[in-house]
Amino acid sequence: MSDAEFDRLFRELREIEAADPEMRAPDSPTLRIGAEPQSALAKHRHRIPMLSLANAFSDEELDAWEARLRRISPQVATAGYQLEVKIDGAAVSLTYERGILRVATTRGNGVIGEDITVNARTIPDIPLTLQGDGWPESMEVRGEVYFPIRNFEALNRRRSAAGETPFANPRNAAAGSLRQLDPSITRERKLRFFAFQVEPEDSLPFATQRELLDALERWGFPVEPHRRRVASLAEAKTAIAGLQNVLPTLNFEADGVVVKVDRISLHPELGIVGEREPRWAIARKFAPEVAVTKLLKIAINVGRTGALNPYAILEPVVVTGVTVSNATLHNADLIAARDIREGDYVEITRAGEVIPQVLAPVIERRPQNAVPWSMPEKCPRCGSAVEHPPDEVMYFCPNVSCPGRVLETIVHFAQVMEIRGLGYQRVAQLLESGLIADVADLYDLAPERLTELEGFATKSARQLVDAIAASKQRPLSTFLFALGIRHVGAGVARILAREFRTLERLRNATIEQVGEIPGIGSIIADAVIHFFAEERNRHLLAEFESHGFRPTESDVSGEGPLAGQIYVVTGTLPTLSRSEATRQIEGAGGRVAANVSQRTTAVVAGTDPGTKLDRARALGVEVIDEGELLRRIGRKF
Ligand code: IVH
Repeated sequence: MSDAEFDRLFRELREIEAADPEMRAPDSPTLRIGAEPQSALAKHRHRIPMLSLANAFSDEELDAWEARLRRISPQVATAGYQLEVKIDGAAVSLTYERGILRVATTRGNGVIGEDITVNARTIPDIPLTLQGDGWPESMEVRGEVYFPIRNFEALNRRRSAAGETPFANPRNAAAGSLRQLDPSITRERKLRFFAFQVEPEDSLPFATQRELLDALERWGFPVEPHRRRVASLAEAKTAIAGLQNVLPTLNFEADGVVVKVDRISLHPELGIVGEREPRWAIARKFAPEVAVTKLLKIAINVGRTGALNPYAILEPVVVTGVTVSNATLHNADLIAARDIREGDYVEITRAGEVIPQVLAPVIERRPQNAVPWSMPEKCPRCGSAVEHPPDEVMYFCPNVSCPGRVLETIVHFAQVMEIRGLGYQRVAQLLESGLIADVADLYDLAPERLTELEGFATKSARQLVDAIAASKQRPLSTFLFALGIRHVGAGVARILAREFRTLERLRNATIEQVGEIPGIGSIIADAVIHFFAEERNRHLLAEFESHGFRPTESDVSGEGPLAGQIYVVTGTLPTLSRSEATRQIEGAGGRVAANVSQRTTAVVAGTDPGTKLDRARALGVEVIDEGELLRRIGRKF
């Protein structure tokens, strides 16, 4: 159905429910969308405490754990183990009564958590009503709400661009997003959920953890797919070693593998250590790979919004198989808090993260002349006096024509508009040569002028000009995202484009018209109106129009389960041919690209996958198989 039809039906449903609350079905979509903000989260005392897990950092520690278990109960020898990925998110407990979600809470301190029911309802992975049968009258399903890594990176980019403090990691982002007072913010964050436990355990007819997980899946819960049952600890160790390589390829942070005694009847007997940790489970963790190298210089990149982003230029060093020579330093507060100085030896990690991070300086190796670092007073690109708004973490270059900002703006535009061959170096070259001064100038480029530049031959110049011309066909949503309007990411751009359909109509919209669109808050509406009101931007858009830009949004584009997603197919798939896979992906609203990039949603790998798989691993892009692809499309196989 069209968006307009959906909105009409949704409003009608809301009216019916308001008039007669009895009519509200427990899985009404109005429970997922549209709850009012709360003033504070209510405290919730857990009926059964939410425990944590002991850790084992080596195979020897696993042996010691098993030895203790066997002393308590010799039956452990034949009980088998269930292995599960340890998801690094925020633990939640979901109370279901007669198959209906009644209460959702955070873990809190394990005894008292917070009631986040309205927020949990905005997470599509969490069922409002259970499917299938066999669930007890009342139970708590426990699991982990997590922030997919790519969403997390996009969120942090938006936060930095808006001058807000980025989240330190996906776990904090998940916990913060769950504890919002306004559920519409939680919904926007697109959190996901995996279930792994039911309390009370003895309320269930299952003998093993494995059967329990399978049942959770039948009832409609996502369960992490890499789970595996093994007969012995020796087998567990081999499987864990295999899983260790898989963890960095997942699109969520995983901080180990949980080993659980599979036979549930042994759990009470094995008991709880210190009222905190069950003895029947242990988290096998891997020390993150950390490398030490010299921090040569703290450099600054000027972002599209003028935010000054400090980063470390490092003596190249190999971390988890990848050579690293740059790492992010986030912001000046973080550098000050960790007292990171130029000339220091610093610890670098990539543990699960795509972008390398500087952890801390090695104080013992600090050169005598190293001095604390501070943000320069002048923009390193244009010399303007740097601004630091009192309630923001970021520092800004206020000059809208700062070459640093213009460069980033054009690079972003080229990336989003998928103009092949127009990367960072090329844009810098075009700006330096004076051939372009803003994005719209790209559409004036003539091949004859390009061939005067270093690195261009007749053919490559022609190809670039053609690629630029072809980008005029992109839909309005892509164009809006490419413009780099504050707070307008790919998702918001799609909402705006679907509502207004043409640039003309959006440009003439009032702040009220923009603000009342579901999913658009007042901050976004303000930013959009501001953008179109600014003289420089009006001029820029007029230039685009003079080049024949008439971006529109059609009804079909961007719909389907894979809308907005980009897949790369590599190797031979078990049942689908390459062209059939492409057809399936496109039919579900997704796109198929030839090469793996940061923007690739996932690589679908078959047998003999080749270098695309290596590249996906290096970039931290998710790797899936044909079965998972078909599941996402909504086809059972
Ligand atoms: S079992 C009583 N299984 O890790 C056993 N926990 O460090 C409790 N976690 O609070 C949990 N993935 O939030 C279990 N597959 C998994 C898990 C998992 C992530 C979290 C959980 C727990 C924390 C303990």
